[in-house]
Amino acid sequence: MSIHTNKYEKKVTINTIKNLKNKEPIVMITAYDALFANLFDSSVEMILVGDSLNMSFLGESDTLSANLSQMIYHTKAVCAGAKNSMVVLDMPFGSYNTKEEALTNAVRVYKECDASAVKVEGGKDRAFIIEHLVKNSIAVVGHIGLMPQYVRAEGGYKVRRDKEDLKALLEDAKAIEKAGAFALVIEGVKSEFAKEITKSVSIPTIGIGAGADTDGQVLVWSDMFGFFEEFKPKFVKRYLEGAKLIRDGLDSYIDEVKQRKFPSSEYEY
Ligand code: KIV
Repeated sequence: MSIHTNKYEKKVTINTIKNLKNKEPIVMITAYDALFANLFDSSVEMILVGDSLNMSFLGESDTLSANLSQMIYHTKAVCAGAKNSMVVLDMPFGSYNTKEEALTNAVRVYKECDASAVKVEGGKDRAFIIEHLVKNSIAVVGHIGLMPQYVRAEGGYKVRRDKEDLKALLEDAKAIEKAGAFALVIEGVKSEFAKEITKSVSIPTIGIGAGADTDGQVLVWSDMFGFFEEFKPKFVKRYLEGAKLIRDGLDSYIDEVKQRKFPSSEYEY
């Protein structure tokens, strides 16, 4: 039986999200176009237009070449499909290196699409940027732990699981909360660390590869529905074998066209 519900009949705001802490797990999923945003709309609290689109949909090997025009283009499409779930745009690599640049680019986001918030990667070193955005009326989601935009600088995707990582992560989370972010993505972190971070901040944490004790979860839709087959990180659960479904459907279509079974009379004018 499906437990799919369209419970968000009104726009989910940052207050909705903040109020869910300690009440109900927050569901976030990525989307990059109106078609899928519309499928997810009103059932999930948050839709992230992640720069993961650079890998899943544009075939790049990391997220670094995503640019702001591309993110806005996809976010416009997502906002056209998502009327009630909150849409968050992932600020791409290099678009928020200084607080001035971050604000100019975030203002551009608000002017050119209907995203409710932006997400930025970075720990306490980037808190001053978040603070500047929030002071200037931009709603911000932070992102700590394994940060895909740091992949080249760190020489790979580094899961935070060592004892000394915890202290740094707690400092990062607290700095981001203090800077005014209304939620925090925690990626690729030992579960017990994510639990401790979640207890130590008053804003909701949304985990990906961070165990069950965060205030919410996020997954990339093409990973969780089995469309992206190049690799499957340990934390991804496949809720569907999407690529297989497509291939099976495609095979049937090819067969029927080749055998002149399609279109049969019911599909004719
Ligand atoms: O780009 C993205 O999809 C993300 C999520 C993995 C959190 O940042």
